Amino acid sequence: MSEHDVLLEVDELTKSFGTGAETLYAVDSVSFSIRRGETFGLVGESGCGKTTCGRTIVRLYNPDSGQVRFDGQDVHRLSRSQAKQYARKAQMIFQDPYASLNPRMTIGDIIKEGMRVHHMGTESELNARMYELLDQVGLNREHANRFPYEFSGGQRQRAGIARALAVEPEFIVCDEPISALDVSIQAQIVNLLRRLQKELHLTYLFIAHDLAMVRYISDRVGVMYLGQLVEIADAEELYSQSVHPYTRALLSAIPDPTPSDKPICENSILQGDVPSPIGRPAGCRFADRCPYATDACRSTRPKLETVSAGHSVSCLRWRELVENDYGKNDPSCTFCDVRQEAGINLNRVRNTNSIRYNENK
Ligand SMILES: Nc1ncnc2c1ncn2[C@@H]1O[C@H](COP(=O)(O)OP(=O)(O)OP(=O)(O)O)[C@@H](O)[C@H]1O
Ligand code: SF4
Ligand SMILES: [Mg+2]
Repeated sequence: MSEHDVLLEVDELTKSFGTGAETLYAVDSVSFSIRRGETFGLVGESGCGKTTCGRTIVRLYNPDSGQVRFDGQDVHRLSRSQAKQYARKAQMIFQDPYASLNPRMTIGDIIKEGMRVHHMGTESELNARMYELLDQVGLNREHANRFPYEFSGGQRQRAGIARALAVEPEFIVCDEPISALDVSIQAQIVNLLRRLQKELHLTYLFIAHDLAMVRYISDRVGVMYLGQLVEIADAEELYSQSVHPYTRALLSAIPDPTPSDKPICENSILQGDVPSPIGRPAGCRFADRCPYATDACRSTRPKLETVSAGHSVSCLRWRELVENDYGKNDPSCTFCDVRQEAGINLNRVRNTNSIRYNENK
């Protein structure tokens, strides 16, 4: 990727909460970059640090260390006026459209608020732009005078998108923008985001749990586990040739809409619960749940390594695991026996809207 193509670079970003022995590293040395006009999907289980990463990128949090560079500029070292410009260029759409809209303001005023802050025109110009935005996101002029409680979840999210677009951003962090919505509405909102991206040349960081949806909307995907990025690849490659044991487990845990006769033992695939995020283990954070973990994995921290162009993984054993086809020939690996017996084909694309973890526990 040439320097010219890159809009956003996240470089060894670390953000913790708490102090001393209780320090929780919500984002721990995370690095990735996003090209202009692309959608970078960020996936991982609840609590793995996706929102914290998004909030730090848009300056809602200051990082402990590391950098976020937007157009080459460190966004946490901006002058007051540069910070105001960045606040306009980088917007965020939130998971809960109800909580993110001021209940005492009409939708029209909510949309105009950012434009007022950035002195983007006279009141009549702002009104004209507000009506244009309502139209752009599939709402009507009559909606301008209504309050958020008078809207459905899908309409509220459309209003949230209009508010973000009002200040003419270049980049939007979409933090689980569809997970609070009915399945039928989810597709409408995702298609709206895709259309707006094309029309307005937007760049997205799309945060989600739903691997199927992330694949649909993203050009590239980063997989997070307990504050760290464990794999980055083009969306298609991640789904067909994932390398990290956690990514493979996540993909195999997607329920298959056309199940085979043989049952799939999901518990055997993604084992155990996510460990406490408090503290910073010396080794790989996935070691307690990884069927391939060795002593070295518990003492040495893996770094992102290049698998192929645009594909990187953070696993000490990725080469040997790929060479040995993830232990298919290793009789000591019960994990693979279970997987082979169940006939799971990790290369098969699963088209589903949800993901289950350890449901039988
Ligand atoms: N303001 C905060 N103070 C203390 N801890 C926090 C704060 N915000 C997040 N955390 C913790 O940081 C970790 C990461 O949280 P975060 O919300 O970023 O995860 P997430 O991946 O977005 O999860 P979800 O998918 O449930 O939204 C969690 O353990 C969370 O409890
Ligand atoms: S480094 Fe070790 S524990 Fe971590 S994912 Fe790789 S094999 Fe598993
Ligand atoms: Mg979140």
